[in-house]
Order: sequence, then structure tokens, then C-alpha cells
Amino acid sequence: MAPRTEIERAVEILRAGGLVAFPTETVYGLGADASNPDALRRLFTVKRRPPDHPVIVHLGDPALLDGWARDVPEVARRLAAECWPGPLTLVLRRAAGVLDEVTGGLDTVGLRVPGQPVALELLRAFGGGVAAPSANRFGRVSPTRAEHVRADLGSDVDLVLDGGPCAVGVESTIVDCSGVDRSGHDVAVLRVGGVSAERLAEIVGHVVPTREPGAVRVPGSLASHYAPRAAVVVVGHNEVVAQAVALLARGERVGLLAAARPPGLPDGLVVLDLPCSAEEYARVLYARLREADRLGLDVLLAVPPREEGVGAAVADRLRRAAGPSR
Ligand code: TXA
Ligand code: MG
Repeated sequence: MAPRTEIERAVEILRAGGLVAFPTETVYGLGADASNPDALRRLFTVKRRPPDHPVIVHLGDPALLDGWARDVPEVARRLAAECWPGPLTLVLRRAAGVLDEVTGGLDTVGLRVPGQPVALELLRAFGGGVAAPSANRFGRVSPTRAEHVRADLGSDVDLVLDGGPCAVGVESTIVDCSGVDRSGHDVAVLRVGGVSAERLAEIVGHVVPTREPGAVRVPGSLASHYAPRAAVVVVGHNEVVAQAVALLARGERVGLLAAARPPGLPDGLVVLDLPCSAEEYARVLYARLREADRLGLDVLLAVPPREEGVGAAVADRLRRAAGPSR
């Protein structure tokens, strides 16, 4: 846990309209006072994010929900009770007084109580809501260690709280509970993440449909998001060797990220990691994408995990990192 004085400093900075990066169980967040428009504008400038994109408000206690949202449906209360603190973001109708700078002008607000001790200590000491996107520049890979934040944002952030590596490693699952949509659904997944589809179905009582982006602005759903400089190519376990041989023959620097080691790997292929479970894959994913760039790889061959549990979020991020044209 961060020393007491660090938390006090962080709270002072937030109260003064500054920016504090803090660990969560998913990824590091870049935090600003969610009720201070100037602080929010600075957040968007540093993040280099378009001002009409909404940010998630982080709270230190589920009981604060009603200060930020109205007409909260029963299903949202059940999700909050089961998953908070944890890697779930609820999109709800915004309460009066929630700033346009937070919601991007939408009538809804994204709320989350993170399950990470340093984050909770900070949020409880601060008392109010902390607006926080992932602490990377817009369109870059999310940070899962304090040093990733420092490398990305440098002196643009007033303080980085170090909580060690993130335990989940991919962003929160976003569930829209703000109303019945055109297809008649009262809940829909906007982004797969740390809370699995299986767990959501258990809590809600049926499979929660995924809503294709379009109507809502979710930058994390842009195809170019989460991309390293290296070209990510999603491949099946049995295709690795042939692809690697072909790429290496063209003089490319090639890396591999896979859940299991395919037999007969060619010399020269850089094995970045062989995470043994979907959970481990999620924890190391973003650090390995960064490493691919540090090593100057041209191509990263990635074999996704099975799309169960958090494996679905890992596969989703790998597809987005690969992009439509690759
Ligand atoms: O795990 C996470 O969610 C991390 C940590 C720091 O909490 N945060 C994160 O923030 O991933 P960001 O800004 O990188 O992604 C938040 C996503 C964005 O895609 C944003 O569009 C969506 O949440 N979002 C926020 N408020 C929304 C709203 N009212 N309606 C629809 N989407 C919303
Ligand atoms: Mg992000």
C-alpha cells in the first residue's frame, strides 16, 4: 500500500485541479477531480483525447452511486452489489450536476468502484468522484505498471502512485444499464473486460448481449486502439510455424505471444511470453505489446487464448491491436 503521505499529497493535487495517475486492478488510470471542469480539460489535453469522449468516474464506495446517477434500475444495483469493488463499469443515466466534460455531453455517466487497495485508499480520502481514463496517450497501449505511465506521460502528470503491476491487466467490462435500447435490451455489454460474460449472465439471469458501437462513443472500441507499432497478426496455434518462417525469410523481426509453445519454432523467432492461463495472459498482455516495440519487432504473432472468462477480453484486445487492415 502507498505510504499515507503519498495519498495525502495525491488528494491535495486532485483538490487543486491537478492530475494523479493511480493503479487499479485493471489498468492505471489518469485521475482528475470529476467536479472540476478545468481539471477535466487538462486531463483531455494531456491524454490527447477528443473532448466529446466520456470518461469513467471512479468512486470509493458503492453507496455514492446515487449522487452520480438517477433512475438506477434494479439490475444495475444487483451488478454493483455483486461486482464492486471490481472491474465493472456501469453506464447509467446521469444525475443533475454531472459535468458535460465527464459525459462528453451524453445523458449517461460511466461509474466504477475499483478493487485495488491504493485506488480505494485514494478515492476514500478524496471523497468525491475521480474521472479517469487509462493513463496512456489516446490510441496507445494501456499501462499496467507505474513505469508505463511515466514513460507515456512524463511530467504531464503531477504524481504517479505506484501500486505494482495490475492484477487483472485488461480494462473493466462496461455494461450499459441506462435504458431499453432499440433492440429491446435493458442491459448490454459495451466493452468486454475484467468481469466475464459468464459471470454477468449469472448475475443478470440471462446472457447479456454485446452492443455494437456506433450510437455511443466508446474510443476503446475503435479498431486502431490498443495497437503497438509492431504489426500484430492474430494466428491459430497450428499456423505459427509457417507464418514465422515466411516472415523471417523476408527479413522481418518476428515475435510470438501464445498460450502454449508450438513445436518446431524456427530460430530467430523471439518468444515474448507463453502465459499459461487466460488470467495470466490478461496480466501480461499490455506489457508484452510494449516490449514488442522496445525490441523493435516488425510483426508480433499472437495466438489468442480460448474465449472464456477473461480470455474473451484478451482475444478482443488482440483483434483490435491487429486492426482491420493487417
Ligand atoms: O478499467 C478501466 O475501465 C480503466 C480504469 C482506469 O478504470 N479505465 C478506462 O478508461 O479504460 P478509458 O477512458 O480508457 O475507457 C473508458 C471507456 C471509454 O471507451 C468510454 O467511451 C466509455 O468507457 N464510457 C465512459 N462513459 C461512458 C458513457 N456514459 N457511455 C458510454 N461509454 C462510456
Ligand atoms: Mg483507454
